[in-house]
Amino acid sequence: MDGNGRWAKKRLLPREAGHVKGVNVVKDVINLTKKYNIDSLTLFAFSTENWARPKNEVLSLLNLFDRSIDDEKDKIESNNIKIRFIGDLASLPTDLQKKIIYIEKKCKKNNGMQLNIAISYGGRSEIVRAVNKFIKNAKAKQSISEELLSKKLDTYGLPEIDLLIRTGGEKRLSNFMLWQLAYSELFFTDALWPDFNESIFINALYFFQTRKRRFGSLMDI
Ligand code: FPP
Repeated sequence: MDGNGRWAKKRLLPREAGHVKGVNVVKDVINLTKKYNIDSLTLFAFSTENWARPKNEVLSLLNLFDRSIDDEKDKIESNNIKIRFIGDLASLPTDLQKKIIYIEKKCKKNNGMQLNIAISYGGRSEIVRAVNKFIKNAKAKQSISEELLSKKLDTYGLPEIDLLIRTGGEKRLSNFMLWQLAYSELFFTDALWPDFNESIFINALYFFQTRKRRFGSLMDI
């Protein structure tokens, strides 16, 4: 969800105003995901690198996550959404960690759309945490495999990623889902996150439909 800061700057507003507008777009995109029958949506809200931003911006983002959980928890539950937070959650303030555990539990019995929020998330950090989890319980000289590593990732049990959408004009992954994006289709748009809307979403879906997915073989799937 890139481009909140630039969106705000263009309007001579503080960067935080872009993040606040970004939350509204998050809600729109969750509704669009449901409308177009997509089973799983992951939002990259805060990266391990974002901790290096000015303290005020970090605090205001953490507050925004906290408030968004308070404001949306009942709606998420009643809309039958399953929710999972991924990332180095232990690095978050304790109050926010508690709210995350609470909302995940509250929505545990739901069986509708899967919503994943990546906070304090980095693809490299996720892989390192996964390897360390493996080492902790590994039998002597047991070596790791793709299957065993996948089981230790934050995304274990979630579907493979079909499509990545990056807003804000940059054409890079910025340490997002490095393992999971191996065969995903990548859609980049210049639109800033606060300007993201249904017509761009549909363009991304059309783009996905035109892809011939071979997963390294010669067969189109
Ligand atoms: C990147 O834009 C955006 C972020 C670091 C924050 C994204 C967070 C939200 C949209 C808030 C809501 C999220 C949830 C799940 C409640 P940027 O700040 O890097 O923008 P720039 O590239 O224009 O500077």
